[in-house]
Amino acid sequence: MRHLMSPLDFSTEELDLLFGLAEDIRKNPAKYAHACHGKILATCFYEPSTRTRLSFESAMIRLGGQIIGFADAASSSASKGESVSDTIRIISCYADICAMRHPKEGAPMVAAEKSLIPVINAGDGGHQHPTQTLTDLLTIHSLKGRLGGFTIGLCGDLKFGRTVHSLIKALVRYHDIKFVFISPEELRVPDYITDLLKSRNIPYEEVIRLERVMPQLDLLYMTRVQKERFFNEEDYVRLKDFYILNADKMALAKKDMLVLHPLPRVNEISVEVDEDPRAAYFRQAQYGVYVRMALILTLLELEPACE
Ligand code: NCD
Repeated sequence: MRHLMSPLDFSTEELDLLFGLAEDIRKNPAKYAHACHGKILATCFYEPSTRTRLSFESAMIRLGGQIIGFADAASSSASKGESVSDTIRIISCYADICAMRHPKEGAPMVAAEKSLIPVINAGDGGHQHPTQTLTDLLTIHSLKGRLGGFTIGLCGDLKFGRTVHSLIKALVRYHDIKFVFISPEELRVPDYITDLLKSRNIPYEEVIRLERVMPQLDLLYMTRVQKERFFNEEDYVRLKDFYILNADKMALAKKDMLVLHPLPRVNEISVEVDEDPRAAYFRQAQYGVYVRMALILTLLELEPACE
């Protein structure tokens, strides 16, 4: 039985297969409409979410399966003091696969150790968010036609943003990538990430001003400042509008640069950018459903059902 805790749990060859499956699902959805008939996905979300939870649920329903779950810790037995280990043992009796989001780093891993069904880490604190990374990689692969040979700027909260940490870890396995980290001093990418890049001789640059690096980027990954991970409100208020991507800044970018964002956005991308053909973040959310469908099928070791 296989779980998904980190984007590195799949080799790049396995990821190619997963993305191939996601593309086939996108092109031939009817072929997969009954593939999960009789299967149940549990979504156990101890932290708020719109996209991740609903895209998992949509993915399972589009595969002909069913869903159960809870959307916040207050409505689960965690509020009575139940541990994640106990909860997953119970969920294992009710469902065939589980997607879990938790504010504590490592909680889905603790659950996986006791689970009788595959567990997918749907975001653990400021640590990892592997299914967002699968979404990001599929989007880049589909829209750029490759997963290497580009300069990617990551902008915003690089300290607490788990999507950033997971994406960098996944991208270091591809060739000829240069990273440009754009953040205020207080929200710089953690040392363990820069240490990883140094140890592999992967080029990176850390800057504060987005305008300065905009012309060199092939991809710009914007992120929101992670309010819920701040210790004091004042720091959040001071940093929250540090970057606002608008039409003036987009005018400095390459004609084929793509803007990605895991969403939700707050103020960091002005709505005027939504109409720019280079804005890919809503398409990215759509790819998130296809890749989660492919992931569910892969972890449950299922083939498309015959009509
Ligand atoms: C991200 C997350 O939860 O880390 N959202 C998502 O899953 N699409 C990013 C965020 O909340 O800023």
